[in-house]
Amino acid sequence: MEPVILACTRIWLIIISCLVIISIVGDVGVMSSSSTVAGLLSYQYYETSCPQVESIVTDKLTPILLSDPASSAALLRLLFHDCQVQGCDASLLLDSDTSEMSSSKNFAIRNRETIGIIKTAVDSVCPGTVSCSDILVLAARDAVAMSGGPKMKVLLGRKDSNTSNHTLADASLPAANTGVGEMLSIFTKRGMTVEESVAILGSHTLGVSHCVNIMDRFSRQIIGANRTPFETLLALRCAFGASISNSGTVGNDVTITKFDNQYYKDTSRGRGLLKIDSDMSTDPRTAPIVERFAQNQNEFFKEFTAAFLKLTSANVLTGHQGVVRTKCNAVN
Ligand code: HEM
Repeated sequence: MEPVILACTRIWLIIISCLVIISIVGDVGVMSSSSTVAGLLSYQYYETSCPQVESIVTDKLTPILLSDPASSAALLRLLFHDCQVQGCDASLLLDSDTSEMSSSKNFAIRNRETIGIIKTAVDSVCPGTVSCSDILVLAARDAVAMSGGPKMKVLLGRKDSNTSNHTLADASLPAANTGVGEMLSIFTKRGMTVEESVAILGSHTLGVSHCVNIMDRFSRQIIGANRTPFETLLALRCAFGASISNSGTVGNDVTITKFDNQYYKDTSRGRGLLKIDSDMSTDPRTAPIVERFAQNQNEFFKEFTAAFLKLTSANVLTGHQGVVRTKCNAVN
């Protein structure tokens, strides 16, 4: 009888050990699969939770862009300034960021409310699912495509932050008089090549700059002396106090609502508006690339697409690192 009891006890011990091992392996499996999901953005992130998100964003944005074509430029710049500070996390949409404490580098930032409007539409179909940072990326992506630019696929799954940091914004956003060396250092830190860095600056194919930000191009010269014809034109355009009152603007290129390679054509002919636009066409590190993009729009679109993906994926919050905000302009 005793050997039978011993054998049974051994069998039970083996079964219990197997169950313990299976449960541990199972836990590890869950942990590793959830940490993989948490650590990565994905093209299919909302495939099951909100498959309509991309079409809702496009449908909501189309009439806004049709009634105000300047919104494309505003949304693209909004995205850049959001991504540049703490990674794309919608911190720039927080009301606390619009206060007088906000970084002066965010001068003339517009269209934050557009993201809130789209968020309401998305939430009416998929409540509490899609982050404001993902909506901003999708809106800027659509703004580029609807203005004639490349139709890009973007990674999704970013989470929103609960904070914004004005000091960091002041330190990280480029000043209006940024030169080529600093620009390359900003974008190569995000893993961009020199070609991609020049391409992301092609965003200046859209929109305008205020006179106050281009005064350096002409104010250091005595009237008329040593100015190129383009600088004289800028001086006239920004005359009569427009540069002081912040009211005057000049187009970043001659087709300000069209996403095309006109920006490179203009800059390569000495008509770059901001210092960085102008300097890129003469600096030996960037001038050949400016020339190449001026000749070939497809090359520009290809490099821009790669750069956009890197700009929008670097240092983002995923999984439990952030939240899905209920309202884009306030923390939950
Ligand atoms: C070193 C890099 C950069 C510098 C120094 C810079 C500087 C500026 C400045 C000073 C303005 C004019 C703002 C105003 O006066 O209203 C401007 C406008 C603009 N920037 Fe940039 N920028 C840089 C990179 C970028 C990037 C990477 C993007 C997009 C991904 C971008 C998108 C835009 C757009 C679309 C406008 C026009 C905004 C509008 O019309 O509302 N910029 N930029």
